[in-house]
Amino acid sequence: MKLEKRFPERRVVITGAGSGLGRALALEFASRGWRVAVTDINMARLAETAAQVAAAGGSAREIACDVTKPADFARVLEAVRTGWGGIDVLVNNAGVAAGGFMDRIPMDEWERIIDINLKSVIIGCRTFIPQFAAQGSGHIVNVASNAGIASLAEMSSYNVTKAGVISLSETLRVELAPRGVGVTVVCPTFFKTNLMDGFRSSDERQRRLAEGMFAKASIGAGEIARHVVRSIERGRLYALAQKDARLAWRGKRLAPEAYFRFLGWAYRTGMFEKYAGVR
Ligand SMILES: NC(=O)c1ccc[n+]([C@@H]2O[C@H](COP(=O)([O-])OP(=O)(O)OC[C@H]3O[C@@H](n4cnc5c(N)ncnc54)[C@H](O)[C@@H]3O)[C@@H](O)[C@H]2O)c1
Repeated sequence: MKLEKRFPERRVVITGAGSGLGRALALEFASRGWRVAVTDINMARLAETAAQVAAAGGSAREIACDVTKPADFARVLEAVRTGWGGIDVLVNNAGVAAGGFMDRIPMDEWERIIDINLKSVIIGCRTFIPQFAAQGSGHIVNVASNAGIASLAEMSSYNVTKAGVISLSETLRVELAPRGVGVTVVCPTFFKTNLMDGFRSSDERQRRLAEGMFAKASIGAGEIARHVVRSIERGRLYALAQKDARLAWRGKRLAPEAYFRFLGWAYRTGMFEKYAGVR
């Protein structure tokens, strides 16, 4: 069903909207005539997003929100409740990236990435679900990553947070359907954004490897954003925009043992490093 037919009020909240995919989603929704609440911790970048939305003919409401803070999410909900009388789509998008060998990732780094990438989505969902349930309608979009499926080596902390977001979304898909609330989980492979700005790793090779993978990315945030909106429209649980994302998803499900044998071989032979131009 066309998205605007399902949600004639056209109200969306997006976290981490000051950059990358969050900004692209704000522009995509605005181009379809939606009212957009953009939230982030970086207010300068958020103002740029709002200006771009305005230049595209829309209007964005800027709200400061650190996704690790339940009180900030509660303020966002209150703002859209009083300002718009409700909400149709929540996009839990904010996130950071990291690499590292499992035995060398400091515990405080584990806590940081779990807070920003996983606990934030838990907080966002539990804050907004009562509102969606009271309305009897709504859609939650959780931005995970193909990392949560592919399980590439030297990325354990990032992989774990994104696998958690996928599991939460799958659970909510079933749990919230009787209450009229849809769920989509976004699982892209690399696409070009500012994600490397906040990348953390104690290993310089891992940074270069990640940078090399980003440099090879063939599509940008705008294409992912359009695919996300189409996925909500089609009622899809999994938004898998890129071919390699669909390949990893199917490969792991159809032949899991063979998938991990291949991954082990690729890791041992340095296939990803060669691909990323690191060796
Ligand atoms: N770019 C990729 O290749 C890629 C691939 C798969 C998944 N993702 C996911 O897409 C999402 C968006 O990332 P992006 O690539 O657009 O990166 P980005 O760095 O361009 O944007 C992320 C935004 O999140 C914000 N943010 C960070 N910490 C925050 C916090 N505590 N509270 C509120 N906002 C915070 C940043 O200020 C930034 O504006 C992330 O969840 C990321 O893991 C990205």
